[in-house]
Amino acid sequence: MSTTTEPESKKLKMDEYPMSPDAEWPDAWLMPDQVEDQCAPNQLEPNVPVSAEQMRDLGICYWKMDDVDKYDYPIKAIPWDPKDAKDPKLQALRDARGYSYADIITVHPDHLPEFDQKIKAFFEEHIHDAEEIRYIVGGSGYFDVRNKEDKWVRVHVKKGDLMTLPEGIYHRFTCDEDHMIHAMRLFIGQPVWTPFNRPQEDHPSRKKYAELFLATEEKKEDADTH
Ligand SMILES: [Fe+2]
Repeated sequence: MSTTTEPESKKLKMDEYPMSPDAEWPDAWLMPDQVEDQCAPNQLEPNVPVSAEQMRDLGICYWKMDDVDKYDYPIKAIPWDPKDAKDPKLQALRDARGYSYADIITVHPDHLPEFDQKIKAFFEEHIHDAEEIRYIVGGSGYFDVRNKEDKWVRVHVKKGDLMTLPEGIYHRFTCDEDHMIHAMRLFIGQPVWTPFNRPQEDHPSRKKYAELFLATEEKKEDADTH
């Protein structure tokens, strides 16, 4: 059995594909609990930026894909055929992270049926029982995630951004004021996109997230000594 060697080789591969330096991460900021227009930036007054380190502490991963303009992606391709994935950097990242599945979604009034309803649904706070992985190949939008104090953090993703949200994190998505985002959805294995709307405190994925990312230092020390 190769159970002992597999994780090591996977780790080695992942070490070969480090995340982008802090300066390349998307802009992020705290936002109010309630908003009138979900597509507006909704910054606090004065603005409170959120750093790359703070995003990583919530379990977010990020890679800037410099070659996004060198490759064409269809408006709609479900599923994405791996042989069409010509970007070697994207392929290397997919191999390193095990992202075997990919498809394309275009969120725009002309390309997404029932745009208004869909946009409202995407903005419902939810979790998934798997990592959420998005590569933005055109346009832009906002991923909102809850921080450790249960406040909303708004992350402004744009063309060339590949971002992942960990399993079990409370989040939501919206277009920005340009109302257009063209994204590749990636997944490990057979894709499942089911959202579980908040509250999900007893969901195994939420418990896992809370243990990994929300446990206080005291609790962690306690766990270490027992
Ligand atoms: Fe989601």
